[in-house]
Formats: sequence, C-alpha cells, structure tokens
Amino acid sequence: MPTITVLPHPELAPAGAVFDAPEAMSICDALLLNNIEMEHACGQVGACSTCHVVVVQGFDSLNALGDYEEDMLDQAWGLQPKSRLSCQARVNTQDLTVEIPRYSLNHAKEMP
Ligand code: FES
Repeated sequence: MPTITVLPHPELAPAGAVFDAPEAMSICDALLLNNIEMEHACGQVGACSTCHVVVVQGFDSLNALGDYEEDMLDQAWGLQPKSRLSCQARVNTQDLTVEIPRYSLNHAKEMP
C-alpha cells in the first residue's frame, strides 16, 4: 500500500503526517481519514479549489489531470506546476509527498 507523507502545515498538520492509503483512494479522502481536516467545500465533486494540494513527490503516478480539473485549479491559491485537486487525484502504486498550501480559496468560509 503506498505511503503518503504530508509536509507540515501550521494549522492542519503542524508536525506533518505519514500514513498508508489504498490504491484508487483520492488524496482528499486519505487526508480526511487520517484526521487532516482538508477543506472540501464542494463535497469533493471537483467544483471548487479548496482541496488544492501540491504533490511534491509521486505527481506523475497520479491519474491524468482532466480539463475540468485544470480549469478549477486555475482558481487555486498558490498554484504550482505539481498542483492537483486532492479530491480528483487518486493514489496509485507510488508513494506520495503532499504539501497543503497555506491558504485556500473558500468563499463560504466564515472569518473567526
Ligand atoms: Fe471541491 Fe475538491 S473538494 S474541488
């Protein structure tokens, strides 16, 4: 089973995280199952960009990026060449290293 390494994020994973995830599971589901409260404002249907991650290692092993996902990614904060919507990117056979951007674009999120 591939391993996902999550780089430290000040709010969602201050110490980072390492866990296994089954093939074909979305990165977003794997994060949520491991108590990393990834935003997923559209319910993981690929219609927002709040679940944006940068796949630092293993990017090429993921399922192909679709046109629609590419369009949504254009709205993501901090877009990188290895950016994906974590709800659309599925774990394959390779280990992944994932960075969660510092901010997300979430129009629905209320300020504290
Ligand atoms: Fe909305 Fe992933 S949760 S695009």
